Amino acid sequence: MTTILAIESSCDETSAAVVVDGRRAASNVVASQQELHAATGGVVPEVAARQHLRALVPVVRQALADAETSWEAIDAIAATAGPGLPGALVVGLNGARGLAFARRLPFIPTDHIEGHVCANWLLPEEPPLPAIALVVSGGHTELLLMEAHGRYRRLGGTRDDAAGEAFDKVARLLGLGYPGGPPVSKLAASAGPHRVRLPRAWLRGTDDFSFSGLKTAVQQLVASPDAPPHAAIADAFEESVADVLSVKAVRAAEREGVASILLAGGVAANPRLRARLRERASVPVFIPPPDLCTDNAAMIGAAAYRHLDLMVPAATALDVRPTVSRRAFALR
Ligand code: KG4
Ligand code: ZN
Repeated sequence: MTTILAIESSCDETSAAVVVDGRRAASNVVASQQELHAATGGVVPEVAARQHLRALVPVVRQALADAETSWEAIDAIAATAGPGLPGALVVGLNGARGLAFARRLPFIPTDHIEGHVCANWLLPEEPPLPAIALVVSGGHTELLLMEAHGRYRRLGGTRDDAAGEAFDKVARLLGLGYPGGPPVSKLAASAGPHRVRLPRAWLRGTDDFSFSGLKTAVQQLVASPDAPPHAAIADAFEESVADVLSVKAVRAAEREGVASILLAGGVAANPRLRARLRERASVPVFIPPPDLCTDNAAMIGAAAYRHLDLMVPAATALDVRPTVSRRAFALR
């Protein structure tokens, strides 16, 4: 049995979790900074880093307490090395290394995107591989072919805005709060019958995505003199995003002949995307529950378990990797 204490701090959640054998989260504590960033309508990197510093130790203590675990039961400490906000990553990575050093535990630098994918291994049933993984978050929209743990091929991704970023920007255009996904989705659910249809960027012949044109279309519609109700716009926007993401993920799955489709990242919490993907897929679809879709440390513990090969002494010099890393997350 391998028990990992994992820490996540790449954006605006400070999180710690105790994860057993990469399959079971004995605890998963998330301290969100969302209220702090709501005032500015988005994350201010320095503010985020300072808040991680305040929250880190209490969150770790709570994770150990919730898991009813003592330090003696922990075999290694893992933390997100990237991608993410540099300052935010520095606090979590070095805080985690400091703890590992003090407790004489080895350290596992972990990739955030691989973490989102591995959240699917915290489900009761283990996803069959190979799989298509669609990672949709505030910072990323990645379509990956996962051949095995640690073996990924990037098929495509967004050419401009990430899917979550599009939700956040559209929320702002509609006068809704940050983060934008949940309020846009709630407003969309309240829409009555309407005729609003927004564009879809198919980028045929590629596994890439684009959401900036859709965002501009929303902007123009909101500003037009005969603008439809905001709920109808939110509904058409959500449908456009869910349509393109689900159709392209299913097409890639059929072409690559995979055994399952894995949805991951904050936008995987979106009910319509979950529904569309399940309706269209001809292989089993795995989607973590919403609290394991948005940023959390349990997913980092799940990914770290697959990279025990990257375990290093805590005093090893390590840098954060703010952009997509190639070492931990063996993208080829
Ligand atoms: O994975 P995550 O927590 O952080 C990043 O790594 O970016 O994803 C956050 C993103 C935000 O853009 C948020 O608006 C979006 O996920 N999100 C949603 C929903 N819940 C969160 N988007 C659509 N529908 C939701 N229910
Ligand atoms: Zn994330």
